[in-house]
Amino acid sequence: MRSAEVGRVDLSLAGRDVRLVGWVHRRRKLGGLSFVDLRDRSGVLQISIGPEWSSPETIEAVGSLGPEDVVCVRGVVRERPEEARNPDMATGDVELRATALEVLNRARTPEIPVYLSPEEELPSEKLRLRHRVLDLRRGELQECLALRHRILLTVRRYFDRRGFLEIETPILTKPTPEGARDFLVPSRLHRGEFFALPQSPQLYKQLLMVAGLDRYLQIARCFRDEDLRADRQPEFTQIDVEASFVEPGDIYRWCEGLMAELAPLAGIGAETPFRRMSYREAIESYGSDRPDLRHGYPIADLTPVLGGLGSTILRRAVAEGGRIRGLRLSGGARLTRRQIGEIEDAAKAAGAPGLLWAKISEGGATGPLGRFFRDDTGARLGMEAGDLLLAAAGADRVTSPALAAARSAAISALPPPMVVEDAWLWVTDFPLFEEADDGALAANHHPFVQPHPDDIHLLDSDPLSVRGMAYDLVYNGAELGSGSIRPHDAELQTRILGLLGVEPDEIAVKFGFLLEALGSGAPPHGGIALGADRLVAQLAGRASLRDVIAFPKTTTARASFEGAPTPVAFDELAALGIVPK
Ligand code: AMO
Repeated sequence: MRSAEVGRVDLSLAGRDVRLVGWVHRRRKLGGLSFVDLRDRSGVLQISIGPEWSSPETIEAVGSLGPEDVVCVRGVVRERPEEARNPDMATGDVELRATALEVLNRARTPEIPVYLSPEEELPSEKLRLRHRVLDLRRGELQECLALRHRILLTVRRYFDRRGFLEIETPILTKPTPEGARDFLVPSRLHRGEFFALPQSPQLYKQLLMVAGLDRYLQIARCFRDEDLRADRQPEFTQIDVEASFVEPGDIYRWCEGLMAELAPLAGIGAETPFRRMSYREAIESYGSDRPDLRHGYPIADLTPVLGGLGSTILRRAVAEGGRIRGLRLSGGARLTRRQIGEIEDAAKAAGAPGLLWAKISEGGATGPLGRFFRDDTGARLGMEAGDLLLAAAGADRVTSPALAAARSAAISALPPPMVVEDAWLWVTDFPLFEEADDGALAANHHPFVQPHPDDIHLLDSDPLSVRGMAYDLVYNGAELGSGSIRPHDAELQTRILGLLGVEPDEIAVKFGFLLEALGSGAPPHGGIALGADRLVAQLAGRASLRDVIAFPKTTTARASFEGAPTPVAFDELAALGIVPK
């Protein structure tokens, strides 16, 4: 049907007769001439229609064209005169003088525009998701999907070269706990019984290691019924990896090599090896297990300097066993009270009762904390005129998230003084357990994490202090992936499940198959899952995962183009045994 792609037409084709197909991007008239911007996936090209070179039928057909009509155009490629060249268009040096034009299909008036003039704003995302097919026609989103394709292709080749086998694991599965709710699928043949859609292929990839497959890769669809955020979708894709006879260093090396191949696809740097930081250090110095290290501003313990000042809030916090922690922002004194108020709001939203601050100027310290400063307090904190100190007092579990939130709000408020380098980081040694709201032990990640060999003796006496051999890959403050070495000993795995409060009979029902496998000669193994959507979104510089997924769910977990979920007739529910007949 076509002899060339629209976006590839250039000076090398000047004088040649070509046939192009595509969509009418926009149409305009200038004197006796008409111009149509023709678009296909490869780009946009100007087609000119005029009585000197176009047939009367073509001129008539162009008159009736509307945006998004589908056409086939034949014509001669012509170099544009110097003054008519458009440097903003990849094909701006040429145009096609149409000799013939055929309408292949008509489009009704599009509900959202595909062509936007520079003054026009994008319609709301709600509307764009409702009309996703039109929205996806925009080059910007097509580029995101093309980048996604190149990334996943590179991932497959990369792991293939290292001996990994891509193996599909079931979609109709037994529930695997990853901390979210399962999407359940009723079984018609076994009434009252359900499959779960996989939250991840975690247990299957471990079973594959026990089966001796040695190195596994899957671009795996995962399903989690959880509250959505910009970085979460109910249905998402993992680059899921597992290998036998490995240590964390092997996983780091593979992932670093992979990122060094992927990042340049998006023009980004990934200097390896990546920095490593223990979970403990990340929380102590940045208040977060996924610190954004593009900017300095570490959090420090200020108790020795500030604990003795005359502030009752500070004294009480220290007397109650808390600490005063904070961060110094050089040049931060130029932030206005309103801006500092917004930073305080971020800290409060993260659970702190308030945020203390001090500004240092030539004249001394000011602000709710600054007014307590003694002559030497600023100097003892290493502060200079123009600096701002943000501090929080109390238990670490309150001050860490509060200061992390204050730090990121302050970073957004303070424009960076210089070009910042991308920051890749491994956060290592996550705790094995955390304390649930009811005081019980919960898995910090999932229950399939090998305890750190130095801490294993504390499993019963002090489980909350046991580190797991678990690690996260963090890029500019976003968690891209998460993994661990797994317990390969059935007895140890049973013990961990027991500590998590799973009763013995429940262990047998839920995890019997895993324990049976582990008891059959399981190799030491471990792996990682990288969030494919998050990775593509980060590399593409998009804030929302929805921009890198062809048909994403809305923030209210609906598929708004096709309209799902939908109600199901009573008869169908009865046939599935969900309601009585
Ligand atoms: P985890 O639950 O941390 O680990 O998931 C791994 C990575 O998957 C991505 N991710 C998501 N992306 C989009 N939407 C979501 N709802 C979502 N949830 C997770 C994140 C995350 O880092 N089985 C383990 C991995 C392992 O231990 O090997 C697991 O699934 O980028």
